Amino acid sequence: MKILVTGGLGYIGSHTVVELLNNNHSVVIVDNLINSKIEVLDNLKIITKKEIDFYQIDILNFIELEKIFKKYKFDAIIHFAGLKAVGESCDKPLLYYENNVSGSINLYNLAIKHNVKNIVFSSSATVYGDDFKVPFKEEYGLGTCTNPYGETKKINEIILTDLSKTDKDLSVVLLRYFNPVGASKTQLLGENPNGIPNNLVPYIAKVAIKELPYLNVYGNDYNTPDGTAIRDYIHIIDLAKGHLKAVEYAVKNKGIEVINLGTGKGTSVLEMVKAYEKASNIKIDYKIQPRRKGDIETCFADTAKAKKLLNFETEYDIEEMCLDSYNYMIKNIK
Ligand code: NAD
Ligand code: UD1
Repeated sequence: MKILVTGGLGYIGSHTVVELLNNNHSVVIVDNLINSKIEVLDNLKIITKKEIDFYQIDILNFIELEKIFKKYKFDAIIHFAGLKAVGESCDKPLLYYENNVSGSINLYNLAIKHNVKNIVFSSSATVYGDDFKVPFKEEYGLGTCTNPYGETKKINEIILTDLSKTDKDLSVVLLRYFNPVGASKTQLLGENPNGIPNNLVPYIAKVAIKELPYLNVYGNDYNTPDGTAIRDYIHIIDLAKGHLKAVEYAVKNKGIEVINLGTGKGTSVLEMVKAYEKASNIKIDYKIQPRRKGDIETCFADTAKAKKLLNFETEYDIEEMCLDSYNYMIKNIK
């Protein structure tokens, strides 16, 4: 298949491109590099030993984006391009609605105009909000989000759901990711945000390599076994393989499906700290702080639908996630 991958040089997109190319699909990447680096393209070529067509285009630029649709006949689109910082989305809601909603509408308009019938979209477990009991099941639908970023994911889900009602030949898979962590085994792809990370594992990683002195653990008074909040961490390679299965499913099945991609297992903040210590053999200092605003207590996936429709099961445990994160950080310390 020829697959358009928007945001393909980002964290999840780049790992997915490896899986697609290794399974004999061809990809065209569109990315404006707002949150990625061009070196990722070189690393993708080193890992896969394949040529990759890349265009530095903003999906908000309809005219430039349409040139790509005129040049190639795509079988499917995997749409990763978007901004993802929850805090920033609260400070700059218009930026998020414009980029993540208007940009997506451009892309969907072009898909319809150029007859591309298969779309896989990066949604998030954040759309469940705090409204439901764990494990989160796809049938629960959309909960209450506490931030504009989450709203942009809900709006995209609604747009694609409505669109799928207008064309019975359209096939859409909405993938609700839980918490992706880890890195490529090659140590050439991974996640190393600039500045102070917001997310747990990138923060622990910077403590491990002594770039930050200690971890702030946000809350130890939750109703969980050790008092810290629980999440469903999924290895980035497992997540990438889920995309391969989702896009192959989309081309064979019409209609719309919402599918969770998680492990179904919950891990607390302190369990993750211990796993990282074990994997890296480095002590991770931490200080207990008040709860972080907007955080929920426990979040993990019901994985039955991913297993049933995609035959998707995860392979890697949290220690391997920590080990791959740590190895990537060591290799990439500047
Ligand atoms: P990322 O920031 O690493 O990748 C996103 C890529 O999209 C970046 O390379 C960025 O440069 C590009 N991009 C952003 N806006 C663009 C635009 N207007 N035009 C062209 N390119 C643009 O993020 P990621 O972690 O790889 O996430 C990919 C997708 O998955 C995002 O939509 C994100 O919201 C979603 N998601 C991520 C997580 C997570 O924890 N990482 C969880 C749930 C959902
Ligand atoms: C975050 C995003 C969410 C996104 C999800 C996917 C926020 C508020 N939410 O969720 O929209 O869908 O990633 O990966 O950013 N923690 C600490 N110390 C830290 C960082 C985090 O204790 O320095 C705790 C948090 O309080 C939370 C857990 O670790 O309990 C996980 O946090 P994080 O990695 O930021 O992910 P989420 O909040 O689940």
